[in-house]
Amino acid sequence: MEKKKEKLNQSFYIENYGCQMNIADSEIVTSILCKDGFFLSENLEKANIILFNSCSIREKAELTLKKRLEQLQFIKKKKKTLFGVIGCLSKKVKDLLLKEKKIDFFVNPNSYKEISNFIRHAMIGQKYFSFSYQKNETYADISPFLKKNKITTFLSITRGCDNMCTFCIVPFTRGRERSSNPYYIIDECQRLYQNGYKEITLLGQNVDSYRWTQGLISIDFSELLNLLAIEIPLMRIRFSTSNPHDMSDKVLKVIHKHSNICKHIHLPVQSGSNKILKLMNRKYTREKYLSLVNKIRSIIPECSISHDIMTGFCNEEEKDHKDTIDLMNKIQYNYGYMFSYSPRPGTYAYRKFKDNVPQDVKKKRLKEIIDLQKKHSSFRMKEYLGKVQEVLIEGESKKNHRYWYGRNTQNLVVVFPKESYKIGGIASVKITDATSATLIGKIYKDVKK
Ligand code: SAH
Ligand code: F3S
Repeated sequence: MEKKKEKLNQSFYIENYGCQMNIADSEIVTSILCKDGFFLSENLEKANIILFNSCSIREKAELTLKKRLEQLQFIKKKKKTLFGVIGCLSKKVKDLLLKEKKIDFFVNPNSYKEISNFIRHAMIGQKYFSFSYQKNETYADISPFLKKNKITTFLSITRGCDNMCTFCIVPFTRGRERSSNPYYIIDECQRLYQNGYKEITLLGQNVDSYRWTQGLISIDFSELLNLLAIEIPLMRIRFSTSNPHDMSDKVLKVIHKHSNICKHIHLPVQSGSNKILKLMNRKYTREKYLSLVNKIRSIIPECSISHDIMTGFCNEEEKDHKDTIDLMNKIQYNYGYMFSYSPRPGTYAYRKFKDNVPQDVKKKRLKEIIDLQKKHSSFRMKEYLGKVQEVLIEGESKKNHRYWYGRNTQNLVVVFPKESYKIGGIASVKITDATSATLIGKIYKDVKK
């Protein structure tokens, strides 16, 4: 292996686009490449290979990637740097980028173990066709690359998705859903904890459908959470994304039972209209969703809830939009991510429905829900005034280096004057002020722990 390293002497740099899953995948790819004799560079302009971990879920992410590739072509020409795209990309865009020689190779999320072969072939100007496209790849035998001084990280527990929401490209780019071996997940979390990590976010497009079966043993998501919480009691555990259709009472009870499982649920709703939910193939109704939110709040009263909402999906009328506004008012989420619909080539909606909501209407509706969410976020943040919060310190506040930056169990950002503590420590902080996005506090002297 050492010999290989000396021989190659090729450095790579990775840029991430899109979701948390891409950040986790970049750490897997970094591990694979380091094992194969490449080394990670912190400097984009000095690297021999630049990898762009792309996302095609929304058109905007794809446009950002294209712009970035254009912007960096000067490096490619000047230094003969290789450009490779990894991650999710619609076939159309991938073919175009390769044809126009904007990139030298593309590696899909199921072929990362072969990435060195893609690079080696690209170095001599040849195309490489992966022969080991692994439909069931989970990368359970690869440990994510450990970064120095990092406190929080992500770990994929499921890959792919079987839900086939009509707007979504993920099932096409990432394949069928499969779950990682729970023993690998536990070992990996333990290794991360031993290496200084204090918080892990378990990732999956739908963590609630996690299920691993071998012989007579079958472990579901609630059991996995329970095992992790017991095995690594000092590690904070988060997870994303929860699916309203699959979230069980068992999971809620486990979250409630363990103090190291964070009290936050990301529960994308997409729309408050039953007509639109049906067109999206979302398999729940607004009534079911609202009753799930009530159940979450009765089992875990301190739980924060966030959402994804998409405006302007095919056939969305003003009354459907009003239903979304009404649902938001009923729930008053802590925060959320809001998007306007963009058709994705290959999806059911792209093939069968008309993208018939005009751009200006989509924009207007999006602004309306963003403004409303801001109002709700401010209201929810004010609920913390005067309360003492346990904050995991992740670093210095970007706005003021004399303040620490961290998050409470509800995943809300808290900043407070440094005084003492260090990165990775847990501070008791009394909240004295709040904006719609940040809680501001001071260290609570009277620590009762
Ligand atoms: N697995 C998650 C979603 C993953 S995609 C779930 O269960 O909901 C992340 C978010 O991107 C989605 O929740 C949706 O709001 C948004 N999104 C997905 N496809 C989109 C599209 N074609 N146009 C706009 N937004 C989209
Ligand atoms: Fe996409 Fe729906 Fe799966 S949004 S990732 S198909 S749950």
